[in-house]
Amino acid sequence: MTDLADRLIAGGTLSDGEWRFLIEGDYDRQLLFAEADRVRRRYYGTDVYIRGLIEISNFCKRDCLYCGIRRSNGNADRYRLSVEEILSCCGQGYELGFRTFVLQGGEDSCHTTEWVGRTVSHIKEKYPDCAVTLSLGERPREDYEIWYQAGADRYLLRHETASCAHYEKLHPPGQTFLRRMECLRDLKQIGYQAGAGFMVGSPFQGTEELIADMRFLQEFQPHMVGIGPFIPHHDTPFAGYPQGPLTLTLTMVALTRLTLPKSLIPATTALGTIHPQGRELGLKAGANVVMPNLSPADVRGQYSLYDNKVCTGQEAAEGLAALRKSVSRAGYQIVEGRGDAL
Ligand code: 5AD
Repeated sequence: MTDLADRLIAGGTLSDGEWRFLIEGDYDRQLLFAEADRVRRRYYGTDVYIRGLIEISNFCKRDCLYCGIRRSNGNADRYRLSVEEILSCCGQGYELGFRTFVLQGGEDSCHTTEWVGRTVSHIKEKYPDCAVTLSLGERPREDYEIWYQAGADRYLLRHETASCAHYEKLHPPGQTFLRRMECLRDLKQIGYQAGAGFMVGSPFQGTEELIADMRFLQEFQPHMVGIGPFIPHHDTPFAGYPQGPLTLTLTMVALTRLTLPKSLIPATTALGTIHPQGRELGLKAGANVVMPNLSPADVRGQYSLYDNKVCTGQEAAEGLAALRKSVSRAGYQIVEGRGDAL
């Protein structure tokens, strides 16, 4: 394992067989996590960056088969935050020490190019020392350009899977893999710090698909990578599928750290949802970011991408003091500042 790890860190390519061994082989995962942790410390020391996650709308025109806020879910209780509400979340977040705000939402047709641009400008005017990250799905390149001009710094758009055939099994006919990839390339070209990412253990995913994900990351070189286990949502076509395994998710986090030593990798909410120590385990496997929930408390339950999504306690921005403690117990420390990609 260690020789393969060294080759990854050096930017080398691996054969299918070598990847297969790293992903599903019979070896001590603690050694892999230790390698990933060593690489993470080389570039980031023990620093953990925090992002305040503001879920601005759960209206969505897409129909991703895995997602609880998909258009076809008539049981979803929809909401949309106003600019004032978003600014008030930022204000609370700023007081708590957040210097990055992530505006995430479903693909809401009411979020016009102009409205989003104006919202970004407002936040940047009020909090010039903060980074704004957008995570609003697929939009025309022009929208991405306008929002970048308005001051947005980063954009998260998980690729979900790097296999075209697999992508088509997770999405309805109108949502194409090619368009997803085009958006990611646009974002990076425009100058955003770009985030990709994927679910682990999604239906129809095998080791081959995960190898495709790793090769895509190697080629695309995103600044950020979000990785979490698939978790079923009861009102979706994938309700009956099992959740992604913890150890496989941690393995993919660690391999991503080795492949992209300088990347920003969150210990995701989904990881925290499937295991009480999920977040800490993610940090010990190479993650260096946490994204507590800054949304207004009364809508948090409605942003339900999957069942039992944690949004209280240390997942909540108000739980930051407790989060600080558990992060430091794990051997790291939460630091202030924007935490830009190196
Ligand atoms: N399980 C895990 N992650 C999910 N996401 C959406 N639905 C689920 C689910 N059922 C993830 C997707 C999306 C991100 C915002 O949440 O990867 O990009």
